[in-house]
Amino acid sequence: MCGIVGYIGEKNATPIILEGLRKLEYRGYDSAGIAVIEDGKIEIRRDVGKLINLEVLVKERPLSGKIGIGHTRWATHGAPSARNAHPLIGEKGKVVIVHNGIVENYLELKEELESEGAHFNSDTDTETIVYLIERNFVKGVTLEEAVRLSLQRIRGAHGIVVISNQEPDKIIAARIGNAGGVVIGHGDGEMFVASDIPAILEYTRKMSFLESHQMAVVTRNHVEIKTLNGEHVDVKIDNIAWDPVAAVKGKYRHFMQKEIHEQARSLTDTLTGRVDFDNNRIELINLNMDEKKAKAIQKIIITACGTAYNAGMVGKTMIETIAKIPVEVDVASEFRYRDPLVDESTCVIVISQSGETADTLAAMEEAHKKGAIVLSIVNAIGSQAIRAADGYISMQVGPEIGVASTKAFTAPLVDLYMLAIYLADLRGTLTEEERSHYIYDLRVIPDIAGKCLKREDAVEEVAKILKDVHNILYLGRGINMPIAYEGALKLKEISYIHAEAYPAGEMKHGPIALIDKDMPVLAIIPKDQWYDKMLSQVEQVKARGGTLILVATDGDARAKELGDYVLWIPESPWLLTPVFTTIPLQMLAYHIAAIRGLDVDQPRNLAKSVTVE
Ligand code: M6R
Repeated sequence: MCGIVGYIGEKNATPIILEGLRKLEYRGYDSAGIAVIEDGKIEIRRDVGKLINLEVLVKERPLSGKIGIGHTRWATHGAPSARNAHPLIGEKGKVVIVHNGIVENYLELKEELESEGAHFNSDTDTETIVYLIERNFVKGVTLEEAVRLSLQRIRGAHGIVVISNQEPDKIIAARIGNAGGVVIGHGDGEMFVASDIPAILEYTRKMSFLESHQMAVVTRNHVEIKTLNGEHVDVKIDNIAWDPVAAVKGKYRHFMQKEIHEQARSLTDTLTGRVDFDNNRIELINLNMDEKKAKAIQKIIITACGTAYNAGMVGKTMIETIAKIPVEVDVASEFRYRDPLVDESTCVIVISQSGETADTLAAMEEAHKKGAIVLSIVNAIGSQAIRAADGYISMQVGPEIGVASTKAFTAPLVDLYMLAIYLADLRGTLTEEERSHYIYDLRVIPDIAGKCLKREDAVEEVAKILKDVHNILYLGRGINMPIAYEGALKLKEISYIHAEAYPAGEMKHGPIALIDKDMPVLAIIPKDQWYDKMLSQVEQVKARGGTLILVATDGDARAKELGDYVLWIPESPWLLTPVFTTIPLQMLAYHIAAIRGLDVDQPRNLAKSVTVE
């Protein structure tokens, strides 16, 4: 999704902005641009396609200035093209803008501006904002005031950053709603503005975050934050602990492969500071939950999108089994418009890697409106899903760059398991023995994950065989049913192979008609309470000539007999098996896509964080 970087200081802004945009490439984009103020004039370079095209353009026609803004655009209004790329400039060349979000009333604004004589140079909605700002500005108000007045006219959710050659000593940044974050980086005699932390982490760890309906006036040495009504806001500076080195690809071919392999470590990290193995206790400090609140919960609703939603489905079984609280799981884009039955006795849990997914944030708002306790499980520190929640668990897995989520899927599984124990404990529904047993099982996670990862070569061999298939049907049951969905999602998003997932028991109600020699079936059959049922589904597939790929527990003789190919996992506690059955499926999707020579980290049409509806 769109990315923003801005710089003001004593250095040449161009390389800093281009490097920042490179750090945001993982978000997905289809054009890029940069504007700097050079000798009192706004200079712009924009191009369609990857950042390298913009870099070539900047090499051909260099830019230098001490203040500038840049953008990677993911098209919403108007095709991906240089003409529609940001930054977009006002009619008189005095104001230039980069923007994340959608102007919901842009047609109305465009007609109004056209009736006043405006000519638009792009097909974007963003141009209406910069035209409005410039028209207010040339009437004689300050740039800050012009932005404020203009933002009052536009509907929707937005992150915007504006500069002007008439006031070349400042950047104005503003945020309305949840169209992605606006973060300000505090340097020494220089300041940075970005949509996401990684863009500027190389330069500073001191960051401030804009809330909705706030704007910032950023000069070289000072940051002032106000509400859009002009009220003063204290500038809070957070120290960000992420290690930028963790975002480098290292020996791996792709970030996705690196992130898959990081899971033994990231799963350890997510346990860190939460599990006291000596005293058999879980401590989730940032959850802000106490006995009274926990006991008042009548129902939990987990809501999220994509991979995070699949994690939520696993969480349902974990929480219902351990904490005995009824759990519903809802896709966030449905929840937000469904008028869900939520009240003060409901606890709504959202899961999000980026913490900026528009549908998920809107679901949080809806839940809050109805009086629910809203908790979040989030990876990106400082993101809106953390700030807007009543309490949160941070995934603690470090930046995830590959668009296909991997380590940010397995970590929340463990977080949900810990949350279930924690809630059960607060509600007094766990015996000492049960708690010890569940907590003891957490110890094995990093070791078993590590063993799964060591089996990559065997998975790659299966990938070589499957690389040209056109469809795969994924089946799972019980706690591993969501893993069938997650495996299928991983395969389709990076390899572009059609993959469909089903709860295995549903096979006989329709999908079995698809089975023939051209429809490979991947079934997840660890040794758990659904094992016998899964075996009978697998036998039915076998009887119809389908190729069978099984994910099975080491030593399972029946799986060896039935499966054409078996992806083995070590024996593990049943409630935690999804953490391990997932790993071979991530590796399978990865290798199929890599063998097909596809852009694994930035698959077509996808963005890392989906900040629009
Ligand atoms: O940042 P979020 O976790 O809220 O993102 C949700 C989905 O957009 C995301 O999981 C998406 O499905 C991934 N591409 C899956 O790999």
